[in-house]
Amino acid sequence: MTTTGTTTTIALVTGATQGLGLETVRRLAGLGWTVWLGARDLTQGARLADELDGDVRPVQLDVTDEASVTSAARTVEAGSGRLDVLVNNAGIAGTHAGPRETAPDDFLPVFGVNVLGPVRVTHTFLPLLDRSAQPRVVMVSSGLGSLAITNDPSRLESTLHVLVYPSSKAALNMITTQYARSLPGYQVNVVDPGYTGTALNGFTGTQTVQEGTEAVVAAATLEPGAPTGTFTDRAGALPW
Ligand SMILES: NC(=O)c1ccc[n+]([C@@H]2O[C@H](COP(=O)([O-])OP(=O)(O)OC[C@H]3O[C@@H](n4cnc5c(N)ncnc54)[C@H](OP(=O)(O)O)[C@@H]3O)[C@@H](O)[C@H]2O)c1
Repeated sequence: MTTTGTTTTIALVTGATQGLGLETVRRLAGLGWTVWLGARDLTQGARLADELDGDVRPVQLDVTDEASVTSAARTVEAGSGRLDVLVNNAGIAGTHAGPRETAPDDFLPVFGVNVLGPVRVTHTFLPLLDRSAQPRVVMVSSGLGSLAITNDPSRLESTLHVLVYPSSKAALNMITTQYARSLPGYQVNVVDPGYTGTALNGFTGTQTVQEGTEAVVAAATLEPGAPTGTFTDRAGALPW
């Protein structure tokens, strides 16, 4: 792998118009990085980028839209020449219906964003990540994607009986370990932000976005040689 351009770290965060994604952009830009703020609505993204300190650049990016993701990769290539850190953050909750009430079609929008989205973006940006001296991919998953945690009666996650969102994050966990095992020289890790007050949960989450982005930022800023294929929250390793 080769490094092109300056030594500044170049990052892209998907779904960065609010919540954990926006806070991740703010924090990574605060490190002096160049951060591409992925937004479905470019006007909104440009306004947010203007409001943040540092080198924050808006890019139109809908993770469900092949043309949008391809165009975003062209924009990042033209502006930065490579990508060092991809944060696949965009996600939606979908139906809260219980298993008995859930129909197959209920999976489609959520899997489109939470599963196919990170695969589409990662697949499209791999050529730019290949140009990095230390390519890192951070998948933003959930404790709800853990079979161990959702079956542990001591955990809050075990009280939720829902098919769609948890299975989308379980799929993302598996996708992460498959990428990690097949991309030598990469650090591909998956994180659980923890229950954080954002629009995703109607601001019922108990953590601040600062707390919720701790694991995201830790995985984005790993030292060279740090592990790949891990699942962590801000307290450390999590069971799959
Ligand atoms: N909050 C929690 O407690 C919690 C816990 C565990 C995991 N997570 C995960 O953390 C991530 C961020 O969630 P959040 O809590 O910050 O939620 P949020 O505040 O609702 O933000 C979600 C972001 O995803 C974007 N998005 C939705 N669909 C998109 C698409 N098709 N293409 C691109 N962007 C899209 C939204 O953009 P618009 O503004 O355009 O809608 C928004 O910027 C998600 O993956 C979520 O599953 C959250």
